[in-house]
Amino acid sequence: MRAVAVAHPNVALVKYWGKRARAGNLPATGSLSLVLGGLATETSVDFDPALARDRVLLDGREDPETTSRVTACLDLLRGEAGVSARAAVLSRNDFPTGAGLASSASGFAALVTAGAGALGLHLKPQRLAEIARLGSGSAPRSLLGGVVLLTNRGQTTVCEQVAAPADWPLEIVVAVTTSGPKATSSREGMARSEQTSPYYDSWVQTHGGDLEAGLAAVRARDFPALADIAEHNCLKMHAVMLTTRPPLIYWTPATLACLHRVQELRRDGVPVFFTVDAGPQVKAVCLPGVAGDVAAALAAVPGVLQVLRSPLGEGARLRANAD
Ligand code: PMV
Repeated sequence: MRAVAVAHPNVALVKYWGKRARAGNLPATGSLSLVLGGLATETSVDFDPALARDRVLLDGREDPETTSRVTACLDLLRGEAGVSARAAVLSRNDFPTGAGLASSASGFAALVTAGAGALGLHLKPQRLAEIARLGSGSAPRSLLGGVVLLTNRGQTTVCEQVAAPADWPLEIVVAVTTSGPKATSSREGMARSEQTSPYYDSWVQTHGGDLEAGLAAVRARDFPALADIAEHNCLKMHAVMLTTRPPLIYWTPATLACLHRVQELRRDGVPVFFTVDAGPQVKAVCLPGVAGDVAAALAAVPGVLQVLRSPLGEGARLRANAD
């Protein structure tokens, strides 16, 4: 009754910010993302009848909010298997946790993959994605690899791979500007934006067009078109965040300096664009061959603590020989 899974975080190029319904954690919009193969979460799930409750250690620490989300996902897996045993869950990230690097996405993708594996369940991918979504709206995207499209369909969401890593071997450079967890979680921030940002409705209404443009750019391998729509969609989401009350200012001065540096590089002919999620880190997406130069340029920006390089990655999977 034990299994170990590995999953990678993902970064959205056309983003999700806001929910259609709290029940089932349904996003207001679809999204398009890249899986970051160079960053990983490894999670073990061990169902043990001797445990009175689920015990969850994330990077060695226990947090009641995380545990209750994990229990909600495990309850569904237990229901599928007809098992009632509680579980010991150990999860480790090899990158900063909760700081806008989508650790919740890789965390819940790894959790449901390991949980289903430990229970010997062979669930349909769609069911596994629905269970992962309860933990984090972006987690279903980390179940697949490469470029992933998530769309709303009726009372659920559907994910599909649009390009495998080998189809379009983009590289991502992450500029880390703060290592601590963010002040406001995505979940709380979204709820606040829905209620208070005067731009929230336009964000939702214009989102379908952004998603179509992003998808068309990926299908045509049109990097300039993808750069244009991804930067626009990112800044539109941050406009919603900034106009939320109280405001959600996820950027640091170094975040903004990196955005300017990426734009300068592009003006100089380097194929790169930026995106930023609910945190201060900047992800610079590059065509193959320029990631070294982009990493060096971002490492030299004052306030950048660390630069990570990542190719596109595979979807969540069980680790063989889990010990
Ligand atoms: O998956 P959540 O609930 O942590 O929300 C993710 C929200 C963004 O990262 C800001 C955008 C996205 O689509 O990933």
